[in-house]
Amino acid sequence: MAVKKWRCLVCGYIHEGEAPPEVCPVCGVGPEEFVLVEEKERDVTLSEEIKVACRSISHGMYIICSKNGERFNGQTANSLTQVSGNPIQVAIGINKGNLTHEYIEKSGVFVANILGCDSIDLAKHFGFQTGREVDKFKDISYELGAETAAPYIKEALAYLECKIDQKKTLDANTHTVYLAEVVGGGILNKGEPMTYSYYHANRK
Ligand SMILES: Cc1cc2nc3c(=O)[nH]c(=O)nc-3n(C[C@H](O)[C@H](O)[C@H](O)COP(=O)(O)O)c2cc1C
Repeated sequence: MAVKKWRCLVCGYIHEGEAPPEVCPVCGVGPEEFVLVEEKERDVTLSEEIKVACRSISHGMYIICSKNGERFNGQTANSLTQVSGNPIQVAIGINKGNLTHEYIEKSGVFVANILGCDSIDLAKHFGFQTGREVDKFKDISYELGAETAAPYIKEALAYLECKIDQKKTLDANTHTVYLAEVVGGGILNKGEPMTYSYYHANRK
């Protein structure tokens, strides 16, 4: 697959795509400040071995919940990491096609529910169907966070309420990376946090 790369002359940001972006997500300049730097073939058929190797990255397992007015949705995600401690900030990577992405874009908030090892079925429930087709919260026990009014799931070990600064998002081709400040949260249950590799070893 041919991939064009464009470099921002102001901040050095590299954009991949047919054309330069409308706005540089890092420094905000327009497409006129971008130059084509290279066009190369990218191998998109990564081996199974590399995909399995990625499961060894020490991710946790989370349900990311967001809202659109009075409507709620959530999805499973492993791509959450704590970026800083004061203020506490986390980053997540969310596929642009997901309903959760649409809700995060609209509300600017999400709740990260931290899953324990007993919650494999919950991870499947939120990870293998889309809220465009089913109400994933129908039989789920949840409440709304005090700071964001987005749902936290009572089965989770703990939850973090997060607010996004719209300037702190990164276009990662298929995904958007959101950097968010933790503005609330709580501890719900005792248990061992589930890792991504534990999920893959035990999901059946
Ligand atoms: C174990 C697991 C981890 C996942 N991690 C992510 C992730 O980090 N980011 C993402 O965008 N989707 C991830 N997904 C996929 C979404 O959960 C899935 O596409 C979901 O159906 C989207 O739902 P929605 O359209 O209702 O938002 C993961 C799924 C599973 C099962």
